[in-house]
Amino acid sequence: MTDDDPDTERNAEAAADADTAANAEGATDAETAVRRDRFSGGPAREFLSSLAADEAIFEADLAVDRAHTVMLAEQGIVDDAVAGEVLAALDDVEAAGHGALPDGEDVHEAIETAVIDRVGPDGGRMHTARSRNDEVATCIRYRLREDVLAVVASTLSLREALVDVAGEHAETVMPGYTHLQPAQPTTVAHYLLSYEGAVARDTARLLDAYERVNRSPLGAAAFAGTPFDVDRDRTAALLGFDGVVRNSMDAASSRDFLAEVANACATLATTLSGLAEDLILFANKGYVDLSDDYSSTSSIMPQKKNPDTLELTRGVAGDAIGEATGTLSLLKGLPRAYNRDLQRAHAGVFEIADDVREATGIAAGAVATADWNVDALADAAGDGFSTATGVADLLAMSGLPFRTAHEIVADAAESIEDGDTPELAAARVDEAARDVTGESLFEYVSRADVERTLDPTASVASRDSAGGPAPETVRADLSAADRDLSEDREALVAAREALATAAETLDEEVASYV
Ligand code: ARG
Repeated sequence: MTDDDPDTERNAEAAADADTAANAEGATDAETAVRRDRFSGGPAREFLSSLAADEAIFEADLAVDRAHTVMLAEQGIVDDAVAGEVLAALDDVEAAGHGALPDGEDVHEAIETAVIDRVGPDGGRMHTARSRNDEVATCIRYRLREDVLAVVASTLSLREALVDVAGEHAETVMPGYTHLQPAQPTTVAHYLLSYEGAVARDTARLLDAYERVNRSPLGAAAFAGTPFDVDRDRTAALLGFDGVVRNSMDAASSRDFLAEVANACATLATTLSGLAEDLILFANKGYVDLSDDYSSTSSIMPQKKNPDTLELTRGVAGDAIGEATGTLSLLKGLPRAYNRDLQRAHAGVFEIADDVREATGIAAGAVATADWNVDALADAAGDGFSTATGVADLLAMSGLPFRTAHEIVADAAESIEDGDTPELAAARVDEAARDVTGESLFEYVSRADVERTLDPTASVASRDSAGGPAPETVRADLSAADRDLSEDREALVAAREALATAAETLDEEVASYV
């Protein structure tokens, strides 16, 4: 079926030819009536068809057909009786399932054929005042809404796990790294909250994208609207959309919402990949024990416990980035309005949303069930003279220019080794101060203060600037994270309820005709 061929005479002739040919192959009248395959009966038939992939939008298409049919009846464009027959046929088609659909270029055509098979030619009234172009755009958005909300839900579970575990470890000091080298001590809670913040932004990006996905293109027809008196707001409401995509050319041909969702998924997957990488490294160092449920064994090496779930989680980011890039590449340079390239744009986005949702759930489970090795972390927290910055800060607070303090501590770092007592380390810093300034350090700070600063726990406690790792700061930030999480949970519930309410209304409307 071509939706936008202006050459109607040629169209009719070719349709007649195709009908004859199809009838000769034993196709039903209804099938030929819908298909009128001028061009798609040859070797390219399978290449053109999206029917198999369209299983993902089978339910969506039924909903769209129902809403459209109800609206056509309400507007007096089709008789109530015909609407009732079409709607009953759609129930039947749904019960039979996607696998039972007749042949067709896509699910839209196949469902229409199935309806006409059941109702007769009047079934063809279902396609009044629309095109497959607005139909498919509506189906994609209808289906993608659920996918986006499922990813949102997975981010909430991950944030919940991060916040819960962080709540248990506000005092658990650990080494913090830059360039993979021990840099400054922090706490497990502060570390986990760093990911909670990032995932919270991923939630926000997805919820934001949802608002733009959740708009109805239906009624745009091929791209240029329709002379029928359709009620676009009504179909939008029946399908749970939060309004319409107004311009009919934009509505039928834009897919930027797919790029947006793919990008939001890719950004989330990138966040996950960093978390997964850290946990793999921490498990390797003995800082954290992954639960057996999130680990794998080796088929040959009996002693092994491998962090495979996290490696797969890390790997999903590659696919997600590929999908985001692929989506934009497909859309780049497409002229207005509809082009068939668009048929290839959405299936991958459904799939990547599903993969990213799954990976996020796995990350949530791995975080919730892992055991942090408090003693190993405490032992390592001061490694690599990670308290050096704190000592420099102390000297600067005592009146030295920070640059001079930095020089003294850098000098001391040459001779300080892991495992040195605070007394020995303080003496090393003092030697360095004498080298650099010609004076003893203890002229301006007390030995006890220097030794305290060298202790990772005290070092963490002192860094109580906003968002810093000091336990009381982190506790306040945990409460804020909890509040944000509740708000996002409410947003998710509200979005899902709106969809469920619309679905109930549509069911009731349909029931009133059948
Ligand atoms: N199956 C197509 C898609 O997914 C919709 C068909 C619109 N076809 C057309 N030739 N205008 O994009």
